[in-house]
Amino acid sequence: MSAESPESGTLSNLLKEDRRFEPPAAIAEHANLQAEAYDRAASDRDAFWAEQAERLDWSQRWDRVLDWDDAPFAKWFVGGRLNASYNCVDRHVEAGRGDKVAIHWVGEPLDDTRDLTYAQLKDEVSKAANALIDLGVQTGDRVAIYLPMIPEAVIAMLACARIGAPHTVVFGGFSADALASRLDDCQAKVVITADGGYRRGAPSALKPAVDEARTKTGRESGHRVEKVLVVRRTGQDLGEDGWDDSVDVWWHDVVDTASPEHTPEAFDAEHPLYVMYTSGTTGKPKGILHTTGGYLVGTSYTHWAVFDLKADTDVYWCSADIGWVTGHSYLVYGPLANGATQVMYEGTPDAPERGRWWQIIQDYKVTIFYTAPTAIRSFMKQGREIPDRFDMSSLRILGSVGEPINPEAYVWYRHVIGGDRTPVVDTWWQTETGMIMISPLPGVTHGKPGSAMIPIPGVAADVVTEEGASVPNGSGGYLVLTEPWPSMLRTIWGDDQRYRDTYWSRYADQGWYFAGDGAKKDSDGDLWVLGRVDDVMNVSGHRLSTTEIESALVSHPKVAEAAVVGAKDEDTGQAVCAFVILRDEAGDGGADIVEELRNHVRKEIGAIAKPRQIMIVPELPKTRSGKIMRRLLRDVAEHREVGDVTTLADSTVMDLISAQENAGSSDE
Ligand code: PRX
Repeated sequence: MSAESPESGTLSNLLKEDRRFEPPAAIAEHANLQAEAYDRAASDRDAFWAEQAERLDWSQRWDRVLDWDDAPFAKWFVGGRLNASYNCVDRHVEAGRGDKVAIHWVGEPLDDTRDLTYAQLKDEVSKAANALIDLGVQTGDRVAIYLPMIPEAVIAMLACARIGAPHTVVFGGFSADALASRLDDCQAKVVITADGGYRRGAPSALKPAVDEARTKTGRESGHRVEKVLVVRRTGQDLGEDGWDDSVDVWWHDVVDTASPEHTPEAFDAEHPLYVMYTSGTTGKPKGILHTTGGYLVGTSYTHWAVFDLKADTDVYWCSADIGWVTGHSYLVYGPLANGATQVMYEGTPDAPERGRWWQIIQDYKVTIFYTAPTAIRSFMKQGREIPDRFDMSSLRILGSVGEPINPEAYVWYRHVIGGDRTPVVDTWWQTETGMIMISPLPGVTHGKPGSAMIPIPGVAADVVTEEGASVPNGSGGYLVLTEPWPSMLRTIWGDDQRYRDTYWSRYADQGWYFAGDGAKKDSDGDLWVLGRVDDVMNVSGHRLSTTEIESALVSHPKVAEAAVVGAKDEDTGQAVCAFVILRDEAGDGGADIVEELRNHVRKEIGAIAKPRQIMIVPELPKTRSGKIMRRLLRDVAEHREVGDVTTLADSTVMDLISAQENAGSSDE
């Protein structure tokens, strides 16, 4: 692990931040969770989680809250049985709330909207469940979902949950290759996709990537995707070879015609709910497994507590794509289990014009809004004139997720978007944690720009040294979670050993979960999460592995060796910077080599991984043991003075790299 010391000086600026925002009286007075919950949860954790589990409908109650005997393999709500889809849909209809809007869907083209009530959602989910069964999907089979942000994405996920078929949603921005590796890894039987979706005002195709991915699957395992279920969204031409009758099926042919009657079966609390792929420190993405009972308890509890949800009056909006864990926990399972009314938006924030998000908040009178710092920073850049044109007085709580929020962005968000009325909850969590772990509570905790504050009631975390000693206030170290939690990942799909090694080996003696993040406790003991301490980057709140991008680069015939680092970027938090050594026979690579390589990464992984910058270099800085010194490369990429090179095998290498950079020969 190339440890970036969390003790480094980057903190000093942050810690000068002394602005404080008290919870508004109106929120504090009626807050769902009050300050007493912290002690109550800590004094009897199991009882606290049992209380939260009462939020759900169980067809059979559990006999034991937590079985941690086989740690790190947890079982929560042992013996309990439930259906996630029933909990997100049917029970609200049965309670007389069938006419309540579950989703105000807003398409990217103007006036392309659709409202779905809970009763309608129940019918749609039931029809999709029946159609999947007809396509041969059985309990336990995996179904991949590769869809734009349309209602069918939510319907498809809930239909899978309803029949106990774990879904794996692949972000629509991933390439055919990335999709193929995920299909192979979890051996998906069926893929649900669309002809395309709307992005920045134009239809953008999806189905061709599925066709290409299918040709690439099963090379080693022999596995084959049996059926592809296709939603017609854009109506774009699929081309002559774009349809295979033996595999492809239109959604409107099989789902729209299916029966809306489907009785959900109750599954064991530990039945797999979904697999979500995320980047780790090796080239192979990790399939994070979440199971049913604990995950639903964790997401519904946190959505209720951290956003102080008042299901009868709030209009909630999470801008995340369903292709990421935030979309799973805080667009699908948390809000729907809580019977919330929410907005779902298909497109980009600037289509067809820059005020689109604020227009949606105004039109639907959104009260709770959850987005990522990278989006906030890009709005800041455009200036407040745009949001100032809209009436956003309905907003009462704002949330931030995915990366550290810099104090300036936090204050702008609160001030310009929230009119200084709204608490900002900076929520720290991960694909692996499934639910928000560290966050202020909007009616209890005062806001401190840049700090995620303290673990929420029921969660236990600490910042520790390499040896596992808790650091004193004012110091930094590694973030650990010291107690299991209900929505924790259960394993890495098909790789229990990697699960142990990645998360549980570093603090094996203590039995703590190692989050891979550096953090600091300030003088009040509040937490500041600083970012990854491993070879994982965070670009616009999305996780990317340096190794994964390096392997994409070296798969290009002209590339001999590549090193990738995440360099600081004003807009995206971090940006991908690559240093590439070309093969001798490639000469100087040709005039367009940089663009060629950037596009190659895009093709191999997806647009989000496309390097901001590629430098063609003659050598890479390595330690005597041959390990690439990324810290030095990061210095070059961030235009800093190059750091200490005493462990470098050949320190002239850095001079060569710096000279190359100064000549500007290889930047885009
Ligand atoms: O480094 C942390 C950062 O995002 C990582 C988790 O990424 P992912 O699994 O893709 O999940 C993103 C959505 C939960 C963390 O290890 N991160 C996430 N939220 C924050 C954060 N860093 C600082 N502050 C946050 N609020």
